[in-house]
Amino acid sequence: MAVKTATRLTLARRPRRLRRTEPIRSLIRETRLTPDSFILPLFVVEGRGIRNDVGSMPGVAQLSVDEAVTEAAAARADGVPGVLLFGIPAAKDPDGTLASDPEAPVQSAVRALKREMPDLVVITDVCLCEYTSHGHCGILDGEEIANDITVSHLVQAALSHAVAGADFVAPSDMMDGRVAAIRQALDERGFERTGIVSYAAKYCSAFYGPFRDAADSAPKFGDRRSHQMDPANVDEALREVETDLQEGADIVMVKPAGPYLDVIAKVKATFNQPTAAYQVSGEYAMLKAASANGWLDETRAMMESLIAIRRAGADIIITYFARDAARLL
Ligand code: PBG
Repeated sequence: MAVKTATRLTLARRPRRLRRTEPIRSLIRETRLTPDSFILPLFVVEGRGIRNDVGSMPGVAQLSVDEAVTEAAAARADGVPGVLLFGIPAAKDPDGTLASDPEAPVQSAVRALKREMPDLVVITDVCLCEYTSHGHCGILDGEEIANDITVSHLVQAALSHAVAGADFVAPSDMMDGRVAAIRQALDERGFERTGIVSYAAKYCSAFYGPFRDAADSAPKFGDRRSHQMDPANVDEALREVETDLQEGADIVMVKPAGPYLDVIAKVKATFNQPTAAYQVSGEYAMLKAASANGWLDETRAMMESLIAIRRAGADIIITYFARDAARLL
């Protein structure tokens, strides 16, 4: 069909000029993804040569220490500079005793990873929920999580990670005062170089569902509303971040990421501090499931979800897609 020259417009602005070719689009691109901002979460179990696929997270497996080293080395070869470790202990009890055991999976993995790859960035999740028989994030007093006694257990876990050689400990429990207590304990023991990535604005989210399969950490009764944040709140997120920074957090995190882009943007704009965002298990599982059904283009949906998190202001992106995305970049 002939172009109707009679309808030609005279326009001062034609935004489409800048979208005409990929080189032009690339010239004016405002944000970029680079693999050096990605962190890959790993789930570590006891044993050797073990890779237990996590059903609700295709491509993610529980790994024994040797397999975790192999996976981290492969991630590094893809350009991913670091890992976030979760441990699944051999046994659980009401106090989550194995959380601070020097021979438990996380502590063993830290030592093995640091031995093989001294400059791999090793971050350890600090929480009791994977270690307690009831699946709650702390020590129970009746059906409530007792804050201050829980903090003393978290401090012991964080110290055991630091002794093993972690670069950063990442408390994800949302107890009050845990960053200050961990910072003080680390400093007193001479671990002033061990940093704290604080899960500062961690929401009580349905999107953690698949993780609780992966880490076997679903609460046996009740929920996490008494400590994780209400999804409706953003001023409160800023107060949480401010508190954790004052208590000594080096990096603050918003979690989940995709549904909380406004929170990431506000945290970054308000404090201008190193800010991480965690694209959690449910965000990953949704994209994987829709792609497996042919309903979404997995690669495009993955990259779009990640660039959105970056655009919102995240410096660091913790994502199960870290290796796939890094390979594409
Ligand atoms: C707590 C913790 C959780 C996640 C990270 N740390 C689960 C929870 O709070 O219930 C979720 C991560 C994800 O969903 O990918 N140790």
